Amino acid sequence: KVTHVVLTGGVGSRLWPLSRKTLPKQYLDLFDGQSLFEKTVARNLEISDKTIVVGNIENYKMSNAIMSKFDRPFIHIIEALPRNTAAAIAFAAFASESDDVLLITPSDHIIDGDDLYNDALQKAILLANQDYLVTFGIKPTKPETGYGYIEFENENVIAFHEKPNLETATTYLQNGNYFWNSGLFCFKAGKFLAELESQEPEVYWASKTAWEENKEGFLDYELSLNIPSISIDYAVMERSGDIKVVPAHFEWSDLGSFESVYDYLVQKGHPIDTNRNIVIGTSMHTTFIGVKNCILIYTTDALMVLQKENSQEVKQVYQQLESIA
Ligand code: GDD
Ligand code: MG
Repeated sequence: KVTHVVLTGGVGSRLWPLSRKTLPKQYLDLFDGQSLFEKTVARNLEISDKTIVVGNIENYKMSNAIMSKFDRPFIHIIEALPRNTAAAIAFAAFASESDDVLLITPSDHIIDGDDLYNDALQKAILLANQDYLVTFGIKPTKPETGYGYIEFENENVIAFHEKPNLETATTYLQNGNYFWNSGLFCFKAGKFLAELESQEPEVYWASKTAWEENKEGFLDYELSLNIPSISIDYAVMERSGDIKVVPAHFEWSDLGSFESVYDYLVQKGHPIDTNRNIVIGTSMHTTFIGVKNCILIYTTDALMVLQKENSQEVKQVYQQLESIA
């Protein structure tokens, strides 16, 4: 039995003003009239027989509205506050049978190429049934520091390195035996919990307590505060010896910044001028003079113009504006 677990905790602050706390990027109809959340659920309907959504008090109504379009059983786990992905995945595992295979996916990634995607999932499910923690490896194209790196030899994982610095990422890129971690995972619920209990017992026990006291999927605020905030990547993936990697040949983008949104849109034929400037969010006539590689983002209450290369700085703008964002 395979359960699809959708993680939907993020705000997508690097995509402000398109993405906000009240409307994070996975709920936006960014591309073709469907949100990334909806596409994510739809993409994994066939491979799984159940969906678990792990979201929070700010977004569960938006998730419910989307889930109601699908005729399928689903469990909704609603966090009182975000405690990062190790805990979010632990809740889903506690809500499952030990032998259930969990396919963990973010809700805010773009994936194209359904056949290649399904091939990769089939391979991953076989490995998960043999008690491995399975990752999906993307061939890196630049020394991105916002990703995890999987050092591999065939399907074996030698080591997992979360978010290296630029110098290290550059050597990984040159070495050739490193993948980017896509952020999708596949493993048995019981295997994940056993690893979490041995690697991060505090996260395991505090999550277990919070889960056991849940009220119809809603987690208690005070009990959640006791859970250390750490991602699955640092908590489990960097430390476990039982990891495998399935190379991902499907198209993948985590739309983590305006730079990746830009690359994706341009590749899909979005209008671009001779100086490689683009406009998002309006069909108003827009002219760029003397500037190159810029992105103009238009929303009803905020306008931003940025140089593509400076995309990582948007997060700071968001943080300064958080009260009004
Ligand atoms: N429910 C819930 N609760 N979801 C969460 C929480 C939480 O506390 N924190 C994060 N998430 C969700 C996010 O919404 C996102 O869909 C997913 O979990 C991953 O979290 P990110 O915060 O986006 O992680 P990241 O981008 O820094 O790094 C991860 O993804 C990269 C690929 O996009 C890592 O797995 C990297 O190794 C990987 O390369
Ligand atoms: Mg991310």
